[in-house]
Amino acid sequence: MNQAAPTPKDNQGDPVVRIDGRLKVTGQASYPADIATANVAYGVLATSTIARGKVSKLNIEDAKAVTGVLDIVTYGDMDNIGKPKFGNTSASSIAPLHDRTIFHDGQIVALVVAETFEAAEEAAMLIHADYEDEQPSAGFESKGTKTEAAAGKNPMLKEDPKAGDFDAAWANAAVKIDEKYSTPTQHHNPIELFSTTAIWQGDQLTIHEPSQNVTGWKVELARQLKLDPANVRIISPYIGGAFGSKGPMTARTAIVAVAARRIGRPVRCVVSRMQAFGTQTYRAETRHRIRMGAGKDGRITAFGHEGWEVTSRPDPYVVGGTSATARMYDYGSVLTHVSIVHADRNTPGYMRSPPETPYVYALENAMDEMAAALGMDPVEFRRINEPAKEVIGGKPFSSRSLIKCYDEAADAFGWSKRDAKVGSMREGDWLIGMGCATAIYPTAVAPCAARVRLTSDGDVRVQCGSHEIGTGVRTIAGQMAAELLGIAMEKVSVEMGDSALPPAPVSGGSISTASVCSAVMQACETVRQKLFAGAVGKDGPLSGSGNAKLDMADGKVGAETGKSAKLADVFKAMQVGAIEEYAEFAPKGSSPEALKKLYAGQPEFHGGEGDEDSVKYAFGAEFVEVRINSYTREVRVPRIVGAFAAGRIMNTRTARSQLMGGMIWGIGQALHEATEIDQRHARYVNRDLQDYIVPVNADIKQVDVILVPEVDREVNPAGVKGLGELGNVGTAAAVASAVYHATGKRIRDLPIRIENLL
Ligand code: MOS
Repeated sequence: MNQAAPTPKDNQGDPVVRIDGRLKVTGQASYPADIATANVAYGVLATSTIARGKVSKLNIEDAKAVTGVLDIVTYGDMDNIGKPKFGNTSASSIAPLHDRTIFHDGQIVALVVAETFEAAEEAAMLIHADYEDEQPSAGFESKGTKTEAAAGKNPMLKEDPKAGDFDAAWANAAVKIDEKYSTPTQHHNPIELFSTTAIWQGDQLTIHEPSQNVTGWKVELARQLKLDPANVRIISPYIGGAFGSKGPMTARTAIVAVAARRIGRPVRCVVSRMQAFGTQTYRAETRHRIRMGAGKDGRITAFGHEGWEVTSRPDPYVVGGTSATARMYDYGSVLTHVSIVHADRNTPGYMRSPPETPYVYALENAMDEMAAALGMDPVEFRRINEPAKEVIGGKPFSSRSLIKCYDEAADAFGWSKRDAKVGSMREGDWLIGMGCATAIYPTAVAPCAARVRLTSDGDVRVQCGSHEIGTGVRTIAGQMAAELLGIAMEKVSVEMGDSALPPAPVSGGSISTASVCSAVMQACETVRQKLFAGAVGKDGPLSGSGNAKLDMADGKVGAETGKSAKLADVFKAMQVGAIEEYAEFAPKGSSPEALKKLYAGQPEFHGGEGDEDSVKYAFGAEFVEVRINSYTREVRVPRIVGAFAAGRIMNTRTARSQLMGGMIWGIGQALHEATEIDQRHARYVNRDLQDYIVPVNADIKQVDVILVPEVDREVNPAGVKGLGELGNVGTAAAVASAVYHATGKRIRDLPIRIENLL
């Protein structure tokens, strides 16, 4: 595999090495559960063994008797605490210790606190509940589920997109595809386990917990605990795998805080991997029906996409990926509908590209099927259906480089060497298949604040309450400041992951680079203007260059005349030692309340399909080669090539890393990953990394990322499209397409396993 970061092309930034990379790989980066905490007690959760019913009695006497047990928080102990509310900040309205109703298997029934982790764990295992249990519904297959229309239930799917007369177009289509697809339940398994450490100092509460949303959590936790948000601080400087799992706050955080207050000591609770399956969010299984009609010329005339998703009993969580699939190609007509199925399950939540991963999987499979039905090359089929405008609202795309992505990726992959005939390519015992699919992700941006300080020594400090979830945003924010202030990267420090810093939006929806960089730009611009005024002022070292265009580079303020002044001299003339600016960035189209909502932890998102002027998406094209053993039918992916266009690329190293990681996850989605559910008990079965299969190094061979240059001035001041969630969209469909090409077997249900190919 080529390990070098791509050489920057037009509108692409240097592959600066992560400023925290060394700390991370040498173990010096402290993750929230690593923070040394004096006098800490250990919390372990006890969870339900049924999925539906009521706890009639909780037996805690044996647990209490374990040496070292300090407290057990359970029913009754949360009565004065506000219940979590389902929404952007809280994962679920299920409020485990507030009432005795059990909504799902693995629901928290108690938190044991002890002097040691071992004592707490022993005691937690001795807790047992008496239940009035009822037969649960596990999901699509079960009796007793409730199905409702999803549109409008959740901001992620405001309405079912429609265009033209689908029924007529479908009836008249010369070539038709009418197929069903499905994606499995998937659970978050970040390397860093979920944890909460709560520390009280008087009425001030500090929470160390991996979080993608420190400001949102601060406000929501304060509401639950009835505190002033100013007295709550969430600290999360490093996060070992987020991908949406650490976006919404779960019920545990308040429970641990209550425990710490009761015993008057800090409490740390690290959730076991098994318990995380029931107490955290996950990607629920989806089903799809796609109807696609086309003319013999290959033009799509009708696109129908129905989706079904599973959620918990009380919450309307839905991802609703038809927003993107309905705008993907130049369909003559569109009809979509998404339904939610309520079952006795914990509430699902965000997982990397929540709507697009399952919905685009279904669409891109159907595209491959239609291309085959038309006898057309799948790349050519997409080229023919490339839209000038999106068909739902008739708006232009702010930029759309999909075909360029196809051209570059096809070229690098060697698509022209593919023999289109199914099952025709072979090497020894291995059947070879080649396939492709489109990646798409909406480009959004949110209000964000940042503080930038420049000293006379040329030291820069950037502060922003965003989160380094592994994307490289800390480095990128520093790069933006270094560039605008003309300072070497070594002189830049960046602080993130603390609700005491200027507020940033949730690090989700691939908005962070755009939002943070736009705020940092705004702060740097003010610093520059102040310095420029000082430089050209009466006593300034560039006095008299008042009308000259000024810039900052190499630690100097320079005029276009060629004259320049050292920063130290400008500061001296200004008689200050540092300039510090606090910027509040609000994107175009923001409401008058936008900044207030940012501070309240409920930032507005702008962009995607929601803007008036244009729809905003990043695109990519992915090509996969599979090799399938003709005897054992094992599937290998020796190579994958993805070309992506995402506006300005801030750093080709971190961008490549995001996209590569996404494609690797996509291979896992295609071939490995699935949570198995015991239908009788609505229980997750494979709750560990032995049985929950993810790709390891031996599964991944060559992964090539091509960054296609693109300029988009509409998306946000930084010109950046998010790409953290782009890479894994489409990958699974590309694998399925390649599997079909190798074997002639069309696998529509993920994951694709040996048993499907026999
Ligand atoms: Mo992401 S699933 O928006 O953290």
